[in-house]
Amino acid sequence: MAAEDEDTVPHAKGRATLHVMRRLFPVTDETAARPAGTPFGDAEATGASPEGGRPAGDSADREWSLQELAAVYAYPEPGPGAREPWLRANMVSSLDGAAQHEGRSQPISGTADMRIFGTLRGLADAVLVGAETVRREGYRPARARAAFAGLREAAGQAPAPAIAVVSASLDLDFSWPLFTSPLVPTLVLTGAAAAPDRVAAAEKAGARVVIAGDGMGVDPDRAVRALADLGMTRLLTEGGPRLLGQLITAGVLDELCLTVSPMLTAGDAQRIAGGPSVAVPRRFELVSLLEEEGFLFSRYRRP
Ligand SMILES: NC(=O)c1ccc[n+]([C@@H]2O[C@H](COP(=O)([O-])OP(=O)(O)OC[C@H]3O[C@@H](n4cnc5c(N)ncnc54)[C@H](OP(=O)(O)O)[C@@H]3O)[C@@H](O)[C@H]2O)c1
Repeated sequence: MAAEDEDTVPHAKGRATLHVMRRLFPVTDETAARPAGTPFGDAEATGASPEGGRPAGDSADREWSLQELAAVYAYPEPGPGAREPWLRANMVSSLDGAAQHEGRSQPISGTADMRIFGTLRGLADAVLVGAETVRREGYRPARARAAFAGLREAAGQAPAPAIAVVSASLDLDFSWPLFTSPLVPTLVLTGAAAAPDRVAAAEKAGARVVIAGDGMGVDPDRAVRALADLGMTRLLTEGGPRLLGQLITAGVLDELCLTVSPMLTAGDAQRIAGGPSVAVPRRFELVSLLEEEGFLFSRYRRP
């Protein structure tokens, strides 16, 4: 989704306009009654639950801090009955369903979208991504960010998520910093029949190659289990559409964080998920819906 780890988008500092995020769901008195420019309301209605809402004590009309966003997007607590690993996807779509414009997602994204993008990375153990997205968007290693350092340390996480690239061809430029100088070794998920010289090139660059399929390709279910076996259970996928489609049909996607961008593109762009369809549409339930400057930030999860 992002070109260059754009979770680096700076905070409001220095900007003339104040960007105000509103919570539209779950609905509270404040959602309905709050005129633009007035405070959000009491702490009880906006408590810092993983289901949505802002941390207690907040009343200023201002941009949400990354810590507040992190509270809203927290992964489900591990424990008895909890689904683990948990795989969430983060995607952006135009109003007319385009997942990219001129081959990239950046033209349909925006500042708040990039802050949520960064927050979701800040919470994840690993970011699963298709090789075409890596190639087209020029992926770089994830950064360690001060805003998430405490949370990550408390959760026993590395300073930044590992990027886990899914590829059959291994037609990747292993001289990229993504492979040679990440904070946490980049993973390359491929099939057992992958070309040995490409596997060797990946490993020589410093990547960790994980076999998650019997042929050339990766079995989505096996990919998720392989990451969990490495202790990475808070999983995030950033697509692209061909990879996401397979994760959906394999039934391993637990959550979709979908940004609806207030833009129309027409054209023949991909949707956020492609490939063969499921036999029966799978229903997800709405967990939360935020709005900023016409962008809608929805969070849906598998019942
Ligand atoms: N709107 C958004 O939120 C969003 C998010 C991400 C990307 N995008 C856009 O989507 C486009 C790229 O997406 P895409 O759907 O074309 O590609 P993709 O899903 O990112 O990557 C497809 C590639 O991943 C590898 N792959 C996928 N499934 C595999 C499997 N089961 N086993 C082994 N390898 C597998 C293959 O790589 P090899 O060819 O190396 O074998 C395949 O060519 C870009 O334009 C990007 O900007 C948009």
